[in-house]
Amino acid sequence: MTGQRAHRVLLVIGTRPEAVKFAPLVRAMTADHRFDPVVVTTGQHREMLDQVLSALDVVPDVRLDVMRERQDLHRLTSRLSAELGTVVTGGAFDALVVQGDTTTALCGALAGFYAGIPVAHVEAGLRSGVPTDPFPEEQNRRLVSRLARWHLAPTLPAGTNLLREGICADDIEITGNTVVDNLLWVVGRGLGRSAFGDGGPARARSGPRIVLTLHRRENQGPVMARLARAVAQVAEECDAEVVLPLHRSPAVRDAVLPVLGEHPHVRLTEPLDYLDFTATLAAADLALTDSGGVQEEAPSLDVPVLVLRNTTERMEAVRAGAALLVGTDPQEVRRRTLDLLADPERVQRMRSVPNPFGDGRAAERILERLARDLGPRAVAREVPGAATLAGSPP
Ligand code: UD1
Ligand code: UDP
Repeated sequence: MTGQRAHRVLLVIGTRPEAVKFAPLVRAMTADHRFDPVVVTTGQHREMLDQVLSALDVVPDVRLDVMRERQDLHRLTSRLSAELGTVVTGGAFDALVVQGDTTTALCGALAGFYAGIPVAHVEAGLRSGVPTDPFPEEQNRRLVSRLARWHLAPTLPAGTNLLREGICADDIEITGNTVVDNLLWVVGRGLGRSAFGDGGPARARSGPRIVLTLHRRENQGPVMARLARAVAQVAEECDAEVVLPLHRSPAVRDAVLPVLGEHPHVRLTEPLDYLDFTATLAAADLALTDSGGVQEEAPSLDVPVLVLRNTTERMEAVRAGAALLVGTDPQEVRRRTLDLLADPERVQRMRSVPNPFGDGRAAERILERLARDLGPRAVAREVPGAATLAGSPP
């Protein structure tokens, strides 16, 4: 790239899942001379974000610190908007990248749009079809689609959703999900330690090993408490060992701890280090979750997943037969989980479904698309005279 300067790209990361899915992009851009990536972490999450960043070797260039205890969406949005506004106007960026459906992604896209910086949306086009479920993520993701220049859709169904909403086909790229790139990188370096321990009260169970995660805002309160109770019943009825890494949200802890805090079948932990979490997931017979990322990682690790939500924007795994959408009614959750566990052949079929979320080359495709559209940039545009010095045409 003699005579050309690298594309200066701002990567906006706010929460744990964004860090996971941005990590392959950060690594790829850092190693690619065509790009000059600048990583800003908003601090929408704090400990849970730092945990993933350090496990995946991502070092932020700019760290904001917007998180507050029990933050509400209005004030979170206002802090993110103000702080990101300062970052985007200070850096002569050629592009800005956001990922997914969080408040950070929405405010990042808006900040880029206000500053006239073209926005790339990674994991674009997922739709549950219900504006309030997941809340507020479904609308966040739709709004980012109105602001973005590039729509980097992980799968064909996601791309098709965008076309249906009038997004121009030329602006959509089907890339695969970077979550798979990341998992392959992690598996290549060696997973961490499974939290299904050999000692302690929850061990020595004769039944299945279950990973449980819960955190969605629309499930918080009584719905989440009832889900926790349903899982406790399943664990008792089939002598299961359950690992539950608790999200740091106090609202989640309020709902879950009174039910599962002292339960003999449940191993409660703080959020696990990413490497340990993936080792735990890989060691599980079943995942029960309302998480987006876990819905993608479980099939990638051949672990059947039961989705504790009424809708999902990740129907690929359900259609492929690797996941079941079981809803949030506790009787239904209990029944469908026990039915599945009683049918080992069905479990085996679910385990053997090919991964519908990607092939591990999403970051590469995203970089190629951005490089193609951003095009060559002459040094002369930045430093008058430098192109002549470098011997390249003006
Ligand atoms: C947010 C995202 C959601 C994503 C989830 C990932 C939005 C609207 N929601 O959920 O899409 O699935 O993150 O986990 O962007 N907390 C800590 N330490 C941390 C992180 C959180 O103490 O490292 C506590 C704080 O009290 C914070 C609360 O958890 O106020 C909730 O955090 P927040 O990012 O608002 O969570 P959600 O909106 O539930
Ligand atoms: N995860 C983790 N430690 C844990 C639980 C989850 O590192 O104890 C990772 C998990 O592997 C996945 C991501 O967190 O990549 C999912 O985050 P979360 O469920 O909080 O958000 P969502 O994906 O629903 O937006």
